[in-house]
Amino acid sequence: MIPDSFIERLRDSADIERIVSSYVALKRRGRILTGCCPFHSEKTPSFTVYTDSDPHFYCFGCQKGGDVITFIREIENLEYVEAVKFLAEKAGLTVPDEGADDGSSRRKARVLEINRAAAKFFYERLISPQGEAGLKYLSGRGLTQKTIRRFGLGYSPDSWDALSGHLKSQGFSEDELILAAVAARGRNGRLYDQFRGRVIFPIIDLRGNVVGFGGRALSDKGPKYLNSSDTPVFKKSHNLYALNFAKAAKPDRLLLAEGYMDVISLHQAGFVNAVATLGTALTQEQARLISRYAGEAVLCYDSDSAGQKAARRAINIFSGLSVEVRVPDMQGAKDPDEYIQKFGPQRFLSLIEAGKSALTWEVEKLKAAHGLDSPEGQTAFLNDFCKLMAEVGTALQREVYVSQISRELGVGRERISAAVEAARKRRAGAAERKSAHNLRAYVQDNRTGQPFARSQVELSAAVAERGLISILMQNPDYYDDIRSKITVGDFISPDHAAIFGAICALLEERRVPELIHLSGRLDTKEIARLSEIMSLGRDIRFYKEQAPEFIAAIKAARLKKSPEELGKMTPEELKDYINEQRSRKF
Ligand code: UTP
Ligand code: MN
Repeated sequence: MIPDSFIERLRDSADIERIVSSYVALKRRGRILTGCCPFHSEKTPSFTVYTDSDPHFYCFGCQKGGDVITFIREIENLEYVEAVKFLAEKAGLTVPDEGADDGSSRRKARVLEINRAAAKFFYERLISPQGEAGLKYLSGRGLTQKTIRRFGLGYSPDSWDALSGHLKSQGFSEDELILAAVAARGRNGRLYDQFRGRVIFPIIDLRGNVVGFGGRALSDKGPKYLNSSDTPVFKKSHNLYALNFAKAAKPDRLLLAEGYMDVISLHQAGFVNAVATLGTALTQEQARLISRYAGEAVLCYDSDSAGQKAARRAINIFSGLSVEVRVPDMQGAKDPDEYIQKFGPQRFLSLIEAGKSALTWEVEKLKAAHGLDSPEGQTAFLNDFCKLMAEVGTALQREVYVSQISRELGVGRERISAAVEAARKRRAGAAERKSAHNLRAYVQDNRTGQPFARSQVELSAAVAERGLISILMQNPDYYDDIRSKITVGDFISPDHAAIFGAICALLEERRVPELIHLSGRLDTKEIARLSEIMSLGRDIRFYKEQAPEFIAAIKAARLKKSPEELGKMTPEELKDYINEQRSRKF
């Protein structure tokens, strides 16, 4: 555990408004700040930061929330201790040693050492006689010596244990190799190398660490590309290939390609601002990463239908982030790599410059899909067009695009606008239903996904639990009284029980239950739920006097008898019980 005294110093120097602002554009609205949530895609801000009393954030759209440490955990994808270190470093503080190591940082350091050693091994193999096939392949694809060295490309020999043997002789254990995902254990119990007979692309993070590998097959055996699975230092969905190089160039725009070879080929041709996802579709985290380094993203996806579909998805993911997205029309080549080989860098540059805005690109896709030369095609196009406008357009964009289509098709502007508005209403309705759905999720156990509230009584109990927690957070002086009447075991919701327990533990020590002290004692889901309770508690203020009522509601749910218990009751007992239950009806 990190000493609480240190957490307090951190709280005083890590101002939540300043920290969050470096990731999210916030606007002040009275005593709260709002912005578009960095954790999910949205157009209207539901992400809220509270800076008064107990600083925290909460998103009403995706239900993430917590204190400043939780924010860093979520956005930087760090463990608790790492997030504390991260914030401490920014504030110029040093985390006391006793808290710094829970074993996980040492494990990570070992994995990084393995990756570095493995990358070196692969590179040395590539330039040795053993790597001839790999080197021939890469030069056949037009890569120069210099490029190969810059990206640290390598070759994994076609052997079951070349790498593991080498790493074991350097003192790494089998378990460590498995943890780093460079080796796995076979059914016979023996260790085998993950990458065999492949050209290797080391994946390097922003701090210059080798965090994982991609490997391209040279034969038809196995998948064309193999990527490291997630490890303690690597999360595919949070990294971008070559962002380490691209970032250094401080670009205004980033080129987003589909694969390793595209990126390398782009860099070699002078486009040092190219990055790629790592064998998966673009994620929210990656889009956000891009938005942190550039104001414009150019989607250089393959020109086949899979690539175009991926582009559409990517556009949706970018919507809500302050990134201008453009899509060049790569006719005549299947991907950027081929385009540059065929037509040269100069033409590729003009292609990018001429890239259409994401919205124009989508409208044109719709036109092509439906065909505008028949009334049926036009109608179908208009339908989809209105849906698109409702989804992605800003008011100004809607105005411009609607006018243009109205002119083009000779359909009244008013009529199209009305249809767009109708589509927007439908969307809003769907959003509302979704929030009702979220409310239902609220009575579900985080861990099992099972509802824990099976009846109205239990639902009321869950709501009462919220109220009681809220009262306790706002009136710690009421603790002794509450504690004498109810225990953690009485709670219906496992999350609420955990939260209540953690608050009680602090209050037992006569400490103020601040979120920042609870965040080391609860998991991120529980913290988010507590933040929700705190946000709601601002609008609906609970009073101490309500505590007995809440306690009664919670206990009523507990009092409900199981069918077996009911079966054992005498007729009189049963009658009393039923009457009692009736009188409790809410
Ligand atoms: P592509 O199949 O388009 O490969 O996959 P490419 O980059 O054009 O490769 P070359 O030119 O044939 O060598 C694009 C990306 O999708 C992921 C990889 O990250 C690849 O770079 N991918 C592809 C996989 O993860 N596994 C596969 O089997 C195929
Ligand atoms: Mn490709």
